[in-house]
Amino acid sequence: MSPVCGEGKVTYLVEAKRLKKYFPVRRSLLEGVLGKRERFLRAVDDVTIGVEKGTVLALVGESGSGKTTFGKLTLRVHLPSSGSVTFNGKEVASFKDKDLESFRRSAQMVYQDPTAALNPRITIGEAIRQPLEFNRLGSVSDQKERALKIMERVGLLPAEEFYSRFPHELSGGQRQRVVIARALVLDPVYLVADEPVAMLDVSVRAQILKLILELKQELDLTMLIITHDLAIAKYFSDNVAIMYLGQIVERGSRQDTFVNPMHPYTKALISSVPVPDPERKRERLMVPGDIPSAINPPPACRFHTRCPFVFERCRVDEPALVERSPGHFVACHLYDKK
Ligand SMILES: Nc1ncnc2c1ncn2[C@@H]1O[C@H](COP(=O)(O)OP(=O)(O)OP(=O)(O)O)[C@@H](O)[C@H]1O
Ligand SMILES: [Mg+2]
Repeated sequence: MSPVCGEGKVTYLVEAKRLKKYFPVRRSLLEGVLGKRERFLRAVDDVTIGVEKGTVLALVGESGSGKTTFGKLTLRVHLPSSGSVTFNGKEVASFKDKDLESFRRSAQMVYQDPTAALNPRITIGEAIRQPLEFNRLGSVSDQKERALKIMERVGLLPAEEFYSRFPHELSGGQRQRVVIARALVLDPVYLVADEPVAMLDVSVRAQILKLILELKQELDLTMLIITHDLAIAKYFSDNVAIMYLGQIVERGSRQDTFVNPMHPYTKALISSVPVPDPERKRERLMVPGDIPSAINPPPACRFHTRCPFVFERCRVDEPALVERSPGHFVACHLYDKK
């Protein structure tokens, strides 16, 4: 059998294999009385991808495609319904005691909404120091010193002054800097950034993305960046995975994805990104309708209900993720069409 992620020599820090997360759907009273079977929402449905050490993987897809659920599975916020996640080759679900504590320190998340992520009654300095306290790392003054250092690094200057401010006294961009500092204060090696700039004013998005990327280089982080914005994936990732209704439809290097997109869904996403040069015309590929429900996903190819190139086989046969060129995987029957 070929290596699960296709590239034999690649070293993955985080690797998901045949990963599934099904959430039970609450039955109505009537359904219960009628003895209807329990139904499940298939948020992540058989995903096999890895995040190579020291690289950024962008996970891209529409709202509801399962991106956040996938990110949380890699952090053990959720446990899988089936399949596995490994971290440095070890099964994440099996971690206990010291191993679990160490994993929790090594793998951190930056959430989309910095306001919701911060307690309004705790000063930002204390919010950044707290993870060190919870992990019993150093004395209180060591912890404070470490918090101040990381605050300086993320641009909360002067750090001493910011330390005693409350979240409501900060701008959205500054709050996101606090969230980033808090995620990094424990020296993680793996960072999941879930739509890290989606809630921010357009004017500060580039600064925050630049900061994340600088920190990634300096601290040698491995990152999963979750976004519905192809432009972010284009400028900030090494590899890209495109997710549709719980499944990966295409994955490969950034070059594969942007220069030679193959799946009609990827093509549609890319063609919807505005081109800065007005002289350059690009053909728009429109995808009609909304993403279907993950409770009753379309059979066979999940994208067939919206695909402009649909043909008979797409309605009856589920396409496998096939390596079409080295490291470039696509799940689409079009490429087998004679
Ligand atoms: N804890 C949960 N319980 C039940 N259903 C959930 C839970 N978390 C997510 N879901 C459902 O799983 C599906 C995928 O959700 P998820 O948040 O992973 O998508 P997403 O791609 O991150 O979307 P968005 O871009 O809107 O953040 C959605 O239908 C969502 O309603
Ligand atoms: Mg999400």
